[in-house]
Amino acid sequence: MLSQLLVTALLGLSATASPVANPPSYGGGSSKGQVAFKFPLTNGFPNIKVPSPELTEIQKNAHGTLPNTALPTKINDTSAANLQLIAFNEIFEVAYFSSLLNNVTHGSYGQEIGSKAAKNMVINAIKTVRAQEELHALGANAILASAGRTTIKPCEYIFPVDKFDDAITLAYTFTDVVLGTLQAAQFAFAEDGDAELVPLVGSIIGQEGEQNGYYRSLTGKVPSALPFLTRSAGPFAYSALQMFVVPGSCPSAKDIKLPIFEPLTVMTKNIKLKDQMLTFAVKKTTAAAVSKMSVVYINQQNKPIVEKVQNVKTSGDSVTFQAAFPAATNLMNSLTLSALTTSAGPFADLDAVAAVTKYGPGLIEIN
Ligand SMILES: *[C@@H]1O[C@H](CO)[C@@H](O)[C@H](O)[C@H]1NC(C)=O
Ligand SMILES: *[C@@H]1O[C@H](CO)[C@@H](O)[C@H](O)[C@H]1NC(C)=O
Repeated sequence: MLSQLLVTALLGLSATASPVANPPSYGGGSSKGQVAFKFPLTNGFPNIKVPSPELTEIQKNAHGTLPNTALPTKINDTSAANLQLIAFNEIFEVAYFSSLLNNVTHGSYGQEIGSKAAKNMVINAIKTVRAQEELHALGANAILASAGRTTIKPCEYIFPVDKFDDAITLAYTFTDVVLGTLQAAQFAFAEDGDAELVPLVGSIIGQEGEQNGYYRSLTGKVPSALPFLTRSAGPFAYSALQMFVVPGSCPSAKDIKLPIFEPLTVMTKNIKLKDQMLTFAVKKTTAAAVSKMSVVYINQQNKPIVEKVQNVKTSGDSVTFQAAFPAATNLMNSLTLSALTTSAGPFADLDAVAAVTKYGPGLIEIN
């Protein structure tokens, strides 16, 4: 569950946004005069040569190296699209953890972290994570380059948090989305003739899972969230990442051939593990149009759950509505992706849901 603090921080993000709960609202922009995060880093990242003293330093901080095995010179179009999304995401993560590291190091989170020893442990962990994410991003772009594909450049970013706990909560929320999306990447690589990339992605999934165990422990949760982590799909991850992107700041947007869905705002706060009604909000539509749509939930490796849209109301420039959320019945802990779709299914899988999604994903975290 995202903390109330995060919700408050998010509410403050955009003067025009409707109240947002779990979690961040979309639509970037630095509406509160927030300074956008811009690359390059002081070491020149993402422009790092292989080999170079800068790479050597990143590898030291990452406690390990880029793979030194031969890179593929040919990959399938689908694989290229998946690697581009991976690179886009990893570059965002470098930005996020750089900002987090900077804030912890310079004390901008105040007394939240506790003792000096606790703070130093966090700094050491995040410094390592940041360098590891740099290598994930450089690695994905290196495969794209070697296979003659378009590499991915950074955007400018804003982060809808300014407190330590909220920053860590947000870190495990987007990492949960990434952990679901990398499952989809593995499936694509296995299917489209690039199975040699499956173990590489498996090694990243494990690494991101280790990170999430740490973030969950830091915020008082059991380290391992679920027996089978929630699956995601490229269009959901790419749409979710837009919440951190300064609109119009991505030179690579034209190269990423994935849809960006309109935001689906989860209005209900502090969602607990019980069967309940949730309230959602969307914009740029009418009550009549929303009344014909369905809410779909994706959690763990289970069949998508479809619920009726109910109690549709127009409020200002938003349309609000409710849908049942059978969280207790289905033990829907950790990440649930919600989507507003033009079809009521039934859906065989996530790609079928993505194909008819208009708004989403609304990210719900129960812990
Ligand atoms: C770091 O602090 C700045 C200033 O308060 C804030 O805008 C930014 O979102 C923070 N970053 C993270 C990851 O918490
Ligand atoms: C690319 O992958 C698709 C399935 O995603 C497959 O149908 C196609 O044959 C693959 N192309 C090559 C050149 O392997």
